[in-house]
Amino acid sequence: MSIKISIQGLSKQFRTGNMTVKALDTCDLDVREGEFICIVGPSGCGKTTLLRIIAGLESPSAGSVAIRRGESGQPLTSMVFQETSIFPWMTVRANVSYGLKLRGVPQAEIDRAVNHFLGLMGLDRFADAYPYQLSGGMKQRVSVARAFANDAEVLLMDEPFAALDEQTKIVLQEELLRIWGASGKTVIFITHSIDEALVLSDRVIVMSGRPGRLKADLKIDFARPRAVYDLKGDPEYGRLSREIWMMLREEVARK
Ligand SMILES: Nc1ncnc2c1ncn2[C@@H]1O[C@H](COP(=O)(O)OP(=O)(O)OP(=O)(O)O)[C@@H](O)[C@H]1O
Ligand SMILES: [Mg+2]
Repeated sequence: MSIKISIQGLSKQFRTGNMTVKALDTCDLDVREGEFICIVGPSGCGKTTLLRIIAGLESPSAGSVAIRRGESGQPLTSMVFQETSIFPWMTVRANVSYGLKLRGVPQAEIDRAVNHFLGLMGLDRFADAYPYQLSGGMKQRVSVARAFANDAEVLLMDEPFAALDEQTKIVLQEELLRIWGASGKTVIFITHSIDEALVLSDRVIVMSGRPGRLKADLKIDFARPRAVYDLKGDPEYGRLSREIWMMLREEVARK
């Protein structure tokens, strides 16, 4: 399959006053069209920075990110941020509709998509509520619904399910896999959970501690469609999980 995202020699330094923080150091990564990649790494290693640069929200200090645009006219990327990022002055429905409205999608089509994703996220009864009336996990589900509804070519997800309870998380993981399977989107998904990375992805990228480098690139070959709970009994699952854990432990110990 063709390359969708090509990252070459990417480095990023932040300067705050007279302090310089090296967040990313010469990262190279190719992501194929339709691929599902998970990135794991210790806190502060530059995962969010990497995603923000891919989304064009931050500029690199060196190197480049190129995303090959399709011909569909869909937006290129949609991001689910690590902290909730929904607009507090808009209702749930208005938040989820936002990207589609901006693009001038006909109202009937917006309603169809928004109702569909609100239903999936278990938010239909809260369509007219404002964010302050929701719990933390519900707000996070609104931002996931907004990213799905926006229907971009590339989904960039920064620990989107971290704040959710275990049951909701599994439901949304399976839903994400279903949407991804049906749409052929390219997904880059950041998580602290080795389990989540193994269940979702085609490839797990392990990052080193700061400055973040891409330390390992493991292929995850479990058959699809995957049932999140069934996978955990597979011996290969245990082996991969241990391999990733050893690498992460080394990074945490190095700090
Ligand atoms: N806008 C900024 N200005 C200054 N420093 C920044 C900025 N954004 C990030 N950093 C620094 O860059 C490093 C990487 O931060 P980043 O948020 O990318 O880490 P992360 O891997 O996402 O961590 P976590 O797992 O805790 O979310 C950190 O040392 C952080 O302090
Ligand atoms: Mg982060």
